[in-house]
Amino acid sequence: MTRRVLVIVGICVAVLLGVTVGTHRALAHKERHTPEQLKIFDEVFLEQVRIGDLLFHGDGETEKKMGVSLSKTGMACAMCHPFASDTHPYEFPKFQEQIEKFGTLRDMINWCIEKPQEGVRIDADSDAMKALEAYVYWANRGSRLDPGRH
Ligand code: HEC
Repeated sequence: MTRRVLVIVGICVAVLLGVTVGTHRALAHKERHTPEQLKIFDEVFLEQVRIGDLLFHGDGETEKKMGVSLSKTGMACAMCHPFASDTHPYEFPKFQEQIEKFGTLRDMINWCIEKPQEGVRIDADSDAMKALEAYVYWANRGSRLDPGRH
């Protein structure tokens, strides 16, 4: 008898949890994306990764097209950060000694443009920044988020 009551209580809890979790999901995503939509989102993302990859490797043509001048030293990001190593996008935001403030990934991208590369800093909302950010995140995909870490 007691076992039966426990089983019934168990089922009720499971159903309630299911409904709650289900409802939240429904609120966050009212409609499922179609495979066609997902393909378009993916293409948009990978296009930005490609542009970022070019900028990260110091491609002059791409810089010219985007109206940016990232380096005067002949150095490109990839020379010091091959495959975006040591860029640690998953650690931001965090306190950054170099700029003596609590900073974002974009702050450090600009720090490297201005300091080691002696280039012209770019707007935090610019297309070039978004592309560089996309490349750095993509190259570090699968990493565990660990904001604030050093
Ligand atoms: C001459 C070498 C050099 C070049 C070129 C360079 N960096 Fe850096 N980068 C560094 C050094 C050194 C640091 C500081 C490392 C530290 O203190 O953890 C750094 C730090 C960073 C960080 C922060 C990492 C962290 O966890 O604090 C990012 C992001 C970054 N660079 C991106 C870029 C990008 C994007 C470019 C090109 C626009 C670039 N770097 C070009 C040497 C370079």
